[in-house]
Amino acid sequence: MQVIKEVQALRELRRCWQMEAKTIAFVPTMGNLHEGHIQLAKEAKKVADIVVVSIFVNPLQFGPDEDLDSYPKTLQQDQEALEAVGVDLIFTPSAKAIYSRGLENQTFVEVPGISYMICGASRPGHFRGVATIVCKLFNMVQPNHAFFGEKDFQQLQVIRAMVTDLSMNLQIHGVPTVRESDGLAMSSRNNYLTTDQRAIAPQLYENMMQIVDKVELGRRDFSIIIKEHKQRLNDAGFKVDYIEIRSADNLLQPGHEDEELVVLMAAFLGKTRLIDNCCIRLNS
Ligand code: PAJ
Repeated sequence: MQVIKEVQALRELRRCWQMEAKTIAFVPTMGNLHEGHIQLAKEAKKVADIVVVSIFVNPLQFGPDEDLDSYPKTLQQDQEALEAVGVDLIFTPSAKAIYSRGLENQTFVEVPGISYMICGASRPGHFRGVATIVCKLFNMVQPNHAFFGEKDFQQLQVIRAMVTDLSMNLQIHGVPTVRESDGLAMSSRNNYLTTDQRAIAPQLYENMMQIVDKVELGRRDFSIIIKEHKQRLNDAGFKVDYIEIRSADNLLQPGHEDEELVVLMAAFLGKTRLIDNCCIRLNS
């Protein structure tokens, strides 16, 4: 497994793979890897000759009061974990290499509509930062396939929309959320939780599954369901940011014609913001 920092070195390797007619699968990450990330790398390995993983904490997607400076960095462990699953290349560029003209003058990729709702409403500019870095990384790695977790469902849909709108020539794969044994979705941010908060955290998943059950049993009074579960989570010690039930396709408010819905939720435990989601296939 190779580890490179320089864009030029990546481009040279890319040229060699091209000459050998190798296919490339790409997994973008911000590091501090857990089983969720590793699952993406394993899935990537199944579809292509070469697997590239990037580790880059992207300043452009963090808000001014968010955890950019404290975001955990564990490069040595990350390398060992990726080597163990047979990843071929880790790309760990510096912010200077990525944003060489400075962040103020950076050209953006903005996916309108879907970027502004739900998480995008709570984190203005976040999805613009995500779309921009993912577009740049795609241009550098030039993958045939790219893998994203369903854990960040809205992010996955923003990326799919970007790829469609900009006619990018690659296939996007969504990978189901990897969870702890108590249901909590794995996340680098789980490390921020205190012991007490960690004990409460699975209630986010439990409430989500209760909502899923209610919708599967035919209830359509979504605003009442949402209100009840917001209350339950706030009473348990969360500060709920949102609970939404949307069309899985475009994340708009669901209509009668929708065949798949998604429950999306975000809630703070102290300063730590947890998100989760679950899709519901309607069978009528
Ligand atoms: P990061 O949070 O490091 O996540 C990298 C990828 O791992 C994303 O596609 C995310 O959805 C996926 N992932 C995280 N936790 C997961 C879990 N429990 N199960 C399955 N997949 C999981 O998401 C980002 O980084 C950044 O926004 C990035 C796309 C790299 C752009 O900077």
